[in-house]
Amino acid sequence: MGPTLECVSCGSTFPERTALLHCTKCGDGLQLVLDVRKVSYDSLASAWKGRDRGVWRYRELLPVPYDRTVSLGEGGTALLPVSLLARDAPRTSVFVKNEGQNPTGSFKDRGMTVGVTEAVALGRKRVICASTGNTAASLAAYAARARLECVVLVPAGGVAQGKLAQAYFEGARVVGLRGSFDDAMNVVVDTADRLDAYVLNSINPYRIEGQKTGAFEVFEQLGGKVPEWLVCPVGNGGNLAAYWKGFEELKALGATDRLPRLVGVQAEGAAPIADAILENRKEIRPVEKPETVASAIRIGNPANWRKTVRAIRESAGLALKLPDPVIVDVQKRLAREEGIFVEPASAASVAGALRLAREGTFRPQDTVVCVCTGHGLKDPEAALRERADVATVEPTVKAILAALGGVPR
Ligand code: F0G
Repeated sequence: MGPTLECVSCGSTFPERTALLHCTKCGDGLQLVLDVRKVSYDSLASAWKGRDRGVWRYRELLPVPYDRTVSLGEGGTALLPVSLLARDAPRTSVFVKNEGQNPTGSFKDRGMTVGVTEAVALGRKRVICASTGNTAASLAAYAARARLECVVLVPAGGVAQGKLAQAYFEGARVVGLRGSFDDAMNVVVDTADRLDAYVLNSINPYRIEGQKTGAFEVFEQLGGKVPEWLVCPVGNGGNLAAYWKGFEELKALGATDRLPRLVGVQAEGAAPIADAILENRKEIRPVEKPETVASAIRIGNPANWRKTVRAIRESAGLALKLPDPVIVDVQKRLAREEGIFVEPASAASVAGALRLAREGTFRPQDTVVCVCTGHGLKDPEAALRERADVATVEPTVKAILAALGGVPR
């Protein structure tokens, strides 16, 4: 039996296979709900074991047909132990889920393989998204692979160069808007209606289904264990909610009786979700002019805030907001001390974990997983602003040694 399309707030149900993005009764977001009562985790787990790593390893829990997937080999990213928190939380196990290893360099590919497969199944010819860059780069790639037309709406001047280069080169029609990501999000559904285009922002429940596989991977990579903490950067709020859905499904399947505590991390200048949690408010207060070096999460009015706030609260989780210099410092340390080059937004998760380690939040036996959402090559300007001291010398050993300040002892 296929999943049910259900409102996340009022529980109204809708026929699956519609392009509906909001509940027609209360206006909140939709999710696909899988009836796992008849599924045995043991039989799933043994089927999974025989397959390659990646999103489609978990095909039984995905809502689209496996025989027609639009895939670039997404998922199956490394879970890397890191020692960045060792001084502050010496006996806590800390990992980075390195989502920059996805085909277009960000976690968005997990959702796009499912979302674009659904677009094709629906017979759609054109897809669209609003984006701070990674969604655009990912959608453009999957649309190219499925031979669909692709339109992306981005804040003009607000997107990192690597992401823009990807979207252009992959053949998307890129429209820069005089405004923010939030302005782009405000017009994307109406523009889609006019263009007869399928919307692939994270308000699309099929995308969340793909993204939830991050949770399945973490569980398997930890040897069948749910981490005590899952730390994730938060922009529009889709990804943290997707991880939550993944872990909840594992619990419903009987694979585990535990759930992680979720930590949502935002940048100080764009922290409506963190503020709502920290101030214990029911509603978010949109940030008029969001500002942060982490352009991926420069979002003032997140579309999925209800889902995310609910997930953080249900998990007895936490929210943090961090100043840009703290995020950039951890971005540098991840690259220099661990060899993991991520974009600024991704470093926010590890920076958040470091803050919590210093505050003594983690217990010694805890396992902490920080999701690093996008590759550092996405945003070369942000990196080069920090470190552009490249010496240029004559191609001689003498000149090279002089440039290095002599032979190191
Ligand atoms: N990290 C990166 C690198 C991102 O690109 C995004 C979102 C997030 C974190 C936040 O994820 O929105 O699910 O809470 N980028 C979107 C985009 C908005 O258009 O690429 P979220």
